[in-house]
Amino acid sequence: MGKVYVFDHPLIQHKLTYIRDKHTGTKEFRELVDEVATLMAFEITRDLPLEEVEIETPVSKAKAKVIAGKKLGVIPILRAGIGMVDGILKLIPAAKVGHIGLYRDPETLKPVEYYVKLPSDVEERDFIIVDPMLATGGSAVAAIDALKKRGAKSIKFMCLIAAPEGVNAVETAHPDVDIYIAALDERLNDHGYIVPGLGDAGDRLFGTK
Ligand code: PRP
Ligand code: URA
Repeated sequence: MGKVYVFDHPLIQHKLTYIRDKHTGTKEFRELVDEVATLMAFEITRDLPLEEVEIETPVSKAKAKVIAGKKLGVIPILRAGIGMVDGILKLIPAAKVGHIGLYRDPETLKPVEYYVKLPSDVEERDFIIVDPMLATGGSAVAAIDALKKRGAKSIKFMCLIAAPEGVNAVETAHPDVDIYIAALDERLNDHGYIVPGLGDAGDRLFGTK
């Protein structure tokens, strides 16, 4: 079974409160999502392998550590995942970015795939799929399916807010995928929205509706 990590760092929790607040406008919402994505990337990269190199400080020679050439890929689920990409790239600028386009049918709540574009060396990369919301889990499961179908072997899923239903869905369908969350909320409402959640992530990020 994959692991579930809930990041309870005070800075992440503080910023998430303003992301949730309905009085937060589009500009501030976008900036906060970007900042939280950076903070989460800091935590999620904790297990990156290091290698030793030799350098010279102004004082002496020294053995020091750098990140061993890991190939990383960041995959936003369109639309709302886009809001998390730049924040992650601030810390891991060499990562390649792929895109998976999915929208949730408002009647069935099932994901509909409309776009997939990935780095060419899928099999060699460690991927982080990003989306602010893990609600029923349909979109996350479909995105992981799409990535695995094309050869991906190593996948993490990172979101801001998850419902227990979504976490269960990903754990059941993809037990090899670890899940990274800023907050685990109570439940879904009758329309499949996370309660208390933050509303419609795509609309709040892009100012639509
Ligand atoms: C939202 C969100 C997730 C999905 C989560 O996207 O960004 O992708 O819903 O719901 P699920 O876990 O029940 O699948 P939406 O479908 O609203 O598309 P959009 O980003 O294009 O607005
Ligand atoms: N998608 C969203 O944007 N918000 C939710 O609460 C659930 C799905």
